[in-house]
Amino acid sequence: MPSIDVLFEAAKAIQAKAYAPYSRFKVGAAIATPDGKVFTGCNVENAAYPVGSCAEAGAISAMIAAGGSRIAQIVVMGEGENLVTPCGGCRQRIREFAMPDTPIHIAGPEGIRKSFTLDELLPFSFGPDNLGAR
Ligand code: THU
Repeated sequence: MPSIDVLFEAAKAIQAKAYAPYSRFKVGAAIATPDGKVFTGCNVENAAYPVGSCAEAGAISAMIAAGGSRIAQIVVMGEGENLVTPCGGCRQRIREFAMPDTPIHIAGPEGIRKSFTLDELLPFSFGPDNLGAR
């Protein structure tokens, strides 16, 4: 399993590559899978604003494209003083590939600011189990 420092540096490096000319708010995300691989993503905005995508979505796409399917932990790195916790949609995206106790670390440029579990950020969530009986 990569150290939290490795994940932090990966999130920082990919944040710098974000395409965010409209919000000017760059976000980076780094996922560790249970087998120790790291996948990263950044936000990619668009002149048609709603078409833009979040950093977490990009990291999940990279993980899936490489054959991964489980998130062991994730670092999300944003700008400014506030905690850049994943948006509602990204909490649900993470939930698809994580467990209730999966750590979600929120970082700023200086380091990890606060860590949550998925269940703290998305309690009583809807997921694959809800569809299992069909
Ligand atoms: N953003 C993310 O990439 N992840 C989040 O969880 C929060 C928001 C991006 C989307 C948009 O490009 C910019 O931050 C401002 O909302």
